[in-house]
Amino acid sequence: MDVKYWNDFADEYDEFVIDAFTYGRSNTIAATVERFASPELDIADYGCGPGKMLPFLARKFHYVYGYDFSDKLLDIARRHCVQLKNVEIAQADLSQPVDHLPMTDVIVSLNAVIMPDPKIRTQFMRGMASRIKPGGHLIMNVPSVESLLYTAFRETEWYRRQGYTPQKAEFQTDISSLTGPRRLAQGVLNRGSEPTKHYLREELMVLVRDEMRLDLVDMIKMEYDWKTDFENDDIPDWMGEPYPWDWLVIAKAK
Ligand SMILES: C[S@@+](CC[C@H](N)C(=O)[O-])C[C@H]1O[C@@H](n2cnc3c(N)ncnc32)[C@H](O)[C@@H]1O
Repeated sequence: MDVKYWNDFADEYDEFVIDAFTYGRSNTIAATVERFASPELDIADYGCGPGKMLPFLARKFHYVYGYDFSDKLLDIARRHCVQLKNVEIAQADLSQPVDHLPMTDVIVSLNAVIMPDPKIRTQFMRGMASRIKPGGHLIMNVPSVESLLYTAFRETEWYRRQGYTPQKAEFQTDISSLTGPRRLAQGVLNRGSEPTKHYLREELMVLVRDEMRLDLVDMIKMEYDWKTDFENDDIPDWMGEPYPWDWLVIAKAK
């Protein structure tokens, strides 16, 4: 998941990436960001990609910074923000020291800290946390380990309801997200064919406290509709709540 990986994605981003801001149920991301919004505060989007959220942030905050290391995705982000006077978009490798970036009242980061390399991940998280003004907030969305296993459980149930025996239903269930034991133990699971870091709820509690040194305010489920998880669009009516989810972490700088 280096710059080349994300640059290669740029032209097909909308086709392949189900982003949390656009596809989350009940506008959870927008509603959460609004809790911390004010025309007097500045916000930065760490790993903004094509900048889908930046125009919304520009309406809610005084000044908005969008950072990413993919020049191709940033070109798209700039096109989204051409008319906006209070948005600044800049290229930055956020796994490297970020002391030169301005401190902001709020930092939002949606599915950016998902690289399998633990060192890069930790540097990204620590750097990001260090650029929040005292008393300011972090809003970070990341994939959930629990949700991925729960989705497999629901898929198996779906096969059972179609008449498969419990054993056959288990056998039919898509396990392509599962990696080898070493990676699995670290929450690194495939998204498509790409090893992607997923997080446990308790793991995030520890990371917020010990790596980012922030105070956890809230951790909520950022839910998606089932059709975003299954390739089959014909989702049966009984497959309602609970829906699949990402973890949305809200934390406060000391
Ligand atoms: C799944 S995309 C999410 C993009 C956007 N936040 C969204 O929700 O549509 C992950 C983004 O993180 C960016 N990214 C990953 N590692 C990065 C790094 N070390 N420095 C800056 N950006 C990074 C990628 O370029 C990509 O745009």
